Amino acid sequence: MSHTARLLVLHGPNLNLLGTREPEIYGSATLAEIDVRIREECQALGAEVRILQSNHEGALVDAIQGARTTADALILNAAAYTHTSVAIRDAVAALQVPVVEVHLSNVFARERFRRRSLLSDVVSGVISGFGPESYVLGVRAALSLLSRPPAGR
Ligand code: DQA
Repeated sequence: MSHTARLLVLHGPNLNLLGTREPEIYGSATLAEIDVRIREECQALGAEVRILQSNHEGALVDAIQGARTTADALILNAAAYTHTSVAIRDAVAALQVPVVEVHLSNVFARERFRRRSLLSDVVSGVISGFGPESYVLGVRAALSLLSRPPAGR
């Protein structure tokens, strides 16, 4: 990439409650603390980052559509919408830029309905189960995807 990489990090519903929400599953870090960690990593790696949280499916669709022209890669924790939203899946599928799906918890080790993601087959890859570090790994994965040519070339 010739210019500074522009990353968009999107947090879906209920992630604004992190810190107090089911801490035995999601840990004690607040979303603000996680965002600081994401910004530190982006600064260290020389990337620009924009971070948004929304509880609303349509707002997330709007933000994903916006990434078509304003971001080079998307790091997406669609939270519960991961398992339910065809609208978010379609918005992701329409994106030309790499998308990394992230989850704090290991969704494959939880209830059956969380093991199905409507996003996984339209994203570049999935990071699940590393707590707040999932986002840091997501940033690194996105930058690594941007620094190498797409597979098959
Ligand atoms: C989550 C996992 C989802 O199943 C859940 O609905 C969330 C958070 C995670 O980060 O572990 O809200 O995406």
